[in-house]
Amino acid sequence: MHDNNTPKSESSNYARSRYMRFTVLTLFPEMFSALLIGGIVKRAIERQYVSVEPINIRDFAKDRHHTVDDRPYGGGCGMVMKPEPVAEAIRHAKKRHPEACTLLLTPQGRLFSQMVAQKLAGYAGLILVCGRYEGIDERIREHLVDDELSIGDYVLTGGELAAMVVIDAVTRLIPGTLGSEDSAQEDSFSNGLLEYPQYTRPRSFEGANVPEVLLSGDHSAIRQWRRHASLIRTVLRRPDLLMVQALTAGDIEFMKKLQQDIKTIIGKHSTAS
Ligand code: ADE
Repeated sequence: MHDNNTPKSESSNYARSRYMRFTVLTLFPEMFSALLIGGIVKRAIERQYVSVEPINIRDFAKDRHHTVDDRPYGGGCGMVMKPEPVAEAIRHAKKRHPEACTLLLTPQGRLFSQMVAQKLAGYAGLILVCGRYEGIDERIREHLVDDELSIGDYVLTGGELAAMVVIDAVTRLIPGTLGSEDSAQEDSFSNGLLEYPQYTRPRSFEGANVPEVLLSGDHSAIRQWRRHASLIRTVLRRPDLLMVQALTAGDIEFMKKLQQDIKTIIGKHSTAS
């Protein structure tokens, strides 16, 4: 469907450091037309920064009814995806894209994160295998995929939405796909902290004003205010991120000052009561 055969980097005019081919193995290839409705992924496909090619696993079923599922050995409810069509589909995709990394989307997989997205953006291609029903025959996981990914601790009806999440998060890391090169560098998580609050016009909205410093034109003060706002937000919402994140001497100084202010406030209240 949207496989643009020749990436711009190979054909032409402007040098492109990377091009990403997503091949999606699914029983519902139509779901991926959603990526063409609008937004950055649509633009990235149109401008040939990435291609998304859904392949129907059912096309690889050999029997007359194109059967793709069967009852589980050992009993139990639900159906399991048969190994043969999935294996055929994976081999077909690997033959076309031997450089690609093959990933199975499953709630039992490694948790997808910004760091995983960054690592995946370094591949020339990703083959995303979407499970349905109660899962895929175990022998596929064991022998035909490089890794298994989960997008969170909840169970979806299939891997398709998870594959679209991966496509979206990885696409925006491909150089050139975002309006400005540094937008991805300033993301939440890519500097290990949550993003600072953003404001646009009007200056006053329903009685709430934009912080003065952002109107000051003092870029160094703005940078410092944003760093401090990021730190405070991360402490309050995701302190776990700060346990592994390298902090600057300025960050520590700022946090010590906060700690001192909090101690003073608590001290005031405990002597009062
Ligand atoms: N398939 C079903 N649930 C999923 C999840 N949470 N992540 C990835 N693939 C899935």
